[in-house]
Amino acid sequence: MLLTKGNYEVLHGMKRPNQNILVLSIFLAICIMVFIHIFLFPLYDTMPKKKEIKFLGDFEQSLCTTNLKPAKVPLSWKHHCPKDGIVTVAQGGRLGNQMWEYASTWAVARRTGLEPYIPRCIYKVLDEVFDDLSIPPLSYVSHCPAKWDSVIKSPEFWSYTNQSILLPRFAVLPDLVLTWADDIRHEFRFKRRLIEASQKVLVTARQLLNRTTLVYVGIHVRRTDYRDYLWRTHRMFLADAHFFIEAMNYFRKKFSNVAFLIVSDDPGWCQQNLLKGHSDVFVVSKGGVTSPGQDLAVMAACNHSIIDYGTFGVWGAILASGETILYNITRHSSIRVSELLPNWHVMY
Ligand SMILES: *[C@@H]1O[C@H](CO)[C@@H](O)[C@H](O)[C@H]1NC(C)=O
Ligand SMILES: *[C@@H]1O[C@H](CO)[C@@H](O)[C@H](O)[C@H]1NC(C)=O
Ligand SMILES: *[C@@H]1O[C@H](CO)[C@@H](O)[C@H](O)[C@H]1NC(C)=O
Ligand SMILES: *[C@@H]1O[C@H](CO)[C@@H](O)[C@H](O)[C@H]1NC(C)=O
Repeated sequence: MLLTKGNYEVLHGMKRPNQNILVLSIFLAICIMVFIHIFLFPLYDTMPKKKEIKFLGDFEQSLCTTNLKPAKVPLSWKHHCPKDGIVTVAQGGRLGNQMWEYASTWAVARRTGLEPYIPRCIYKVLDEVFDDLSIPPLSYVSHCPAKWDSVIKSPEFWSYTNQSILLPRFAVLPDLVLTWADDIRHEFRFKRRLIEASQKVLVTARQLLNRTTLVYVGIHVRRTDYRDYLWRTHRMFLADAHFFIEAMNYFRKKFSNVAFLIVSDDPGWCQQNLLKGHSDVFVVSKGGVTSPGQDLAVMAACNHSIIDYGTFGVWGAILASGETILYNITRHSSIRVSELLPNWHVMY
């Protein structure tokens, strides 16, 4: 319907549109557009402006979504500065996204020979889950002059060693990262306490089923926040119980002694929909009790994987490095991963 003066008055039941309200709403609309451009478009606020950046530490905070406290720099780093440009990345998303941000930085550094650094906020998140990360936090070289010639956001445009590469938040470079799939698995070594806890889960399942050997299949069921996201970005619904049950039946046919260990942000739904009288299915996550790092360690300890969508499940399956069945979600990096790794099948 055209908003002519006549039906405007009918719609609003008044004779004359109030000029002030009109001006105010135009002003608000502009504010919202500016907000969207500054806060929702990833790159705008993370590209450092060359003039303001004298030292590498000057822009670490701008790469983080949380506030940084002053850094402690180990003595051995006090005298080290990168010879050329560096590779780094902006923080975005949760554990799975930040693993991609880390891994992409790692792979770009390996391809270009530039030194990699990750902002301390990402380092902190990953350091709670993994041991001995090889990429140091950016704060270790915060005292070093930022002597780059230019900063670019993708290795595609990289041509000189004095150029730095700043990958955007949510960076996912599966082609480059999975060139060295085994090596990236070695980068992500779980903390001892997480390994012990996940082994306990596996042993418990084996005892409950009274078996001496078992093939373990880790399942990631992502629901809560993905319902809206999937609809908004892909016009898709959540994977239903049917997908998981078909995938489980595939493994039941293939192996006689199998146990399914489910990690999920919605354990209640899994209890109700995926057990279906089978004794070989265990819901491992307990809402608010098990940590994402703990759940990921369980997935990684399994022999094979069933995943729906999201970077968390993809990493669980990459680390498990077995056969993987994944939900068919078009235009998602998980599909690209499935093309790059052997033994990954898309179902539905
Ligand atoms: C960066 O490298 C290019 C090519 O080697 C060179 O032309 C340019 O002068 C260098 N810039 C700086 C600031 O060192
Ligand atoms: C467990 O399995 C063993 C050997 O298969 C059997 O002898 C034993 O009775 C089983 N125990 C239970 C509790 O089912
Ligand atoms: C399956 O995973 C378990 C636990 O990580 C491991 O002990 C076992 O060797 C694996 N089995 C195969 C066939 O790889
Ligand atoms: C996945 O979905 C796409 C688009 O709907 C379709 O073209 C493709 O055949 C599907 N792949 C599989 C393996 O079902």
